[in-house]
Amino acid sequence: MKNFIVTTTRKPDPATESFAQEISSRLGGRLVERADNSFDALRKIYGAENILLVKKNSLSVVTAEGELFFHPNTAHLRIKNLRGGEGDRLIDALKISDGSKVLDCTLGLGSDAIVESFVAGANGKVVALEINPLIAEIVRHGLKNFSEDSPHILDAMRRVEVLNVDCEKFLASCADNSFDAVYFDPMFRRPIQKSSGLNPIRPLADASPLTEEIIREARRVAKFRVVMKEHSGSAEFARLGFKILGGGKYSSVAFGVIDKGYGLL
Ligand SMILES: C[S@@+](CC[C@H](N)C(=O)[O-])C[C@H]1O[C@@H](n2cnc3c(N)ncnc32)[C@H](O)[C@@H]1O
Repeated sequence: MKNFIVTTTRKPDPATESFAQEISSRLGGRLVERADNSFDALRKIYGAENILLVKKNSLSVVTAEGELFFHPNTAHLRIKNLRGGEGDRLIDALKISDGSKVLDCTLGLGSDAIVESFVAGANGKVVALEINPLIAEIVRHGLKNFSEDSPHILDAMRRVEVLNVDCEKFLASCADNSFDAVYFDPMFRRPIQKSSGLNPIRPLADASPLTEEIIREARRVAKFRVVMKEHSGSAEFARLGFKILGGGKYSSVAFGVIDKGYGLL
């Protein structure tokens, strides 16, 4: 990962200072005094690419693309739609319901994981993996502490378990059939620029393509289904053995599925 420093707002209270200290020693980024410096000045002084900014009740990363912070984004509207009886393309693809156990291998900003968690409910489980430590930290903190939403959405957020780990490693450690569904939303091979919701994570996110080995492991770990989201027309679906689902006729994204028992393991 590119180097980063940890700092606070200009006049931090003692709790913010000690949280910054804790996070700096846990993640390994150098803790620097903000003083009256702009972010550009801090970058120059310390030769750092990214700045992990600790505020009173939230965390963000300042990157070359702007400030990355946690927000439920589309999850709010999607859950509202689900509660109103409408469908959700991801949930339909995963075929999950109350009590399901889901492994979300690509947490990102966590919107999909929140929707999965809402559907899986308190009897289910969503484990979400993120390879980048700064993204994992910000989203884990946001899922735990964000408070400006309805109780059913906050409950769904609180239930997501975030792990900072490469999904390939984690999958290798899982027992056969240990999750009902396994989901991948990798950085698209061809980014859709207008999906500006993801733009601030681009400088941090791992954009490596999924490997056949990862998908083979996902098929072993999933009891029923493996799902991947990619841009419509992506060659990744065929390369990795996914069957593209219909629907979303006018959408730039598509979902592919591998059902257990479909194709060779
Ligand atoms: C397109 S984003 C996921 C967006 C997410 N579905 C959402 O709703 O916000 C992809 C994320 O997967 C992460 N990632 C890429 N490769 C990974 C891997 N091998 N293991 C875990 N996370 C990975 C990236 O760093 C990035 O944050």
